Amino acid sequence: MLSLDLDYVRKQFPAFSTPSLEGQAFFENAGGSYMCQPVIDRFARYFEQRKVQPYYAFAASKEAGMEMDLAHVRLASYLNVPADEVMFGPSTSENTYVLAQAFAGRMSVGDVIIVSGQEHEANSGVWRRLEDKGITIRIWEVDPDDGRLHIETLLPLLDDRTRLVAMTHCSNVVGEINPVRKVADITHEAGALLLIDGVSYCPHGFPDVDALGADIYLFSTYKTYGPHQGVMTIRRSARPMLEPQAHYFNRDIPSKWMVPAGPDHAQVAASNGMMDYFDALDAYHGGAEDQGRPRRIETLFREAEKTNLAPMLEYISARNDLRLIGPADPEIRAPTVAFVSARMSSQDIARKLADHGIMAGGGEYYAVRVLEKMGIDAADGAVRLSFVHYTSREEINQALTALDAIL
Ligand SMILES: Cc1ncc(COP(=O)(O)O)c(C=O)c1O
Repeated sequence: MLSLDLDYVRKQFPAFSTPSLEGQAFFENAGGSYMCQPVIDRFARYFEQRKVQPYYAFAASKEAGMEMDLAHVRLASYLNVPADEVMFGPSTSENTYVLAQAFAGRMSVGDVIIVSGQEHEANSGVWRRLEDKGITIRIWEVDPDDGRLHIETLLPLLDDRTRLVAMTHCSNVVGEINPVRKVADITHEAGALLLIDGVSYCPHGFPDVDALGADIYLFSTYKTYGPHQGVMTIRRSARPMLEPQAHYFNRDIPSKWMVPAGPDHAQVAASNGMMDYFDALDAYHGGAEDQGRPRRIETLFREAEKTNLAPMLEYISARNDLRLIGPADPEIRAPTVAFVSARMSSQDIARKLADHGIMAGGGEYYAVRVLEKMGIDAADGAVRLSFVHYTSREEINQALTALDAIL
């Protein structure tokens, strides 16, 4: 297989040829990625030609509806699930909020939900609040030294009252790619469902949700080169555990039953642009057929990212004044690299990085609980350098040179 052609990749993102961004190395991708050209093109066409109520008989409306339906089908195919298991909602935080109401409607007092301590608040607070309804919440705590989750500490939490385990595929500060398949097997053996927050994983390649074994898989397309919305995959087998949250007459419609309000039509339609990009990228790199495309894209991304991740992890690990959050092994983590300094505040470092043309975050990233568990002051937070496949080695060097000058 060919390795990623970065020139080709960067031509698909107008941000890389925008004068105001020239010289600015983008390291806040875990907050939201750049948008690829096909998504922008589809937005423009939708707003210019199809901005009408979809699914009626007139041509513009039919085309709008068809474009939305196509997004469902193509996204489902990338995730390896049937199209009627994919739904769009405004964001992952809103999707978990709705799902929590849905689970609460079908749970009894004393039922148990296990929530990992590594979560972004979007996949934590909504479950914890169900305690008010008599649901027992158990926390699968992280290792306070490095923020990692260990299966041995999950096992004693599971019992026959457990209905749900909520965990992240990859934390937005710890960065480790968690062993979802293993957790799915253990969870299912206990008779519970597994809900996975895939927001920080999906920018690095859409996963095979069927192979992962997650019953519910969530992510946000504004971090995967697309529009600002959330995607929910709910396997058919999980439906009996969920009370529909749509208008009563929409409760049997696959694209609507878990969505209280109408989706943003233009965003759903424009989501096709992500798959346009992935399809073209695969074809450019020699992918001759649709079969196997998502795995080839995931491998292309992962190999390119790991090559850049290794020197960054080495640099941070080698410094005595820096504490890396999460594992130092590029094989088991995504290129979302957070750290704190023993000498300087994270906010100061982030500000100084900006002076060196590094667009990076300093803060808690709504992952307050895991930072606090690790003894990190959430008010100052951590510095986060997060990147994706389109990041160049020159940009990695620019970030490391800037850190050298600042620290
Ligand atoms: C790991 C993770 N989960 C969930 C979310 C929330 O996603 P959304 O902004 O779509 O609500 C984020 C956002 O940063 C995140 O990083």
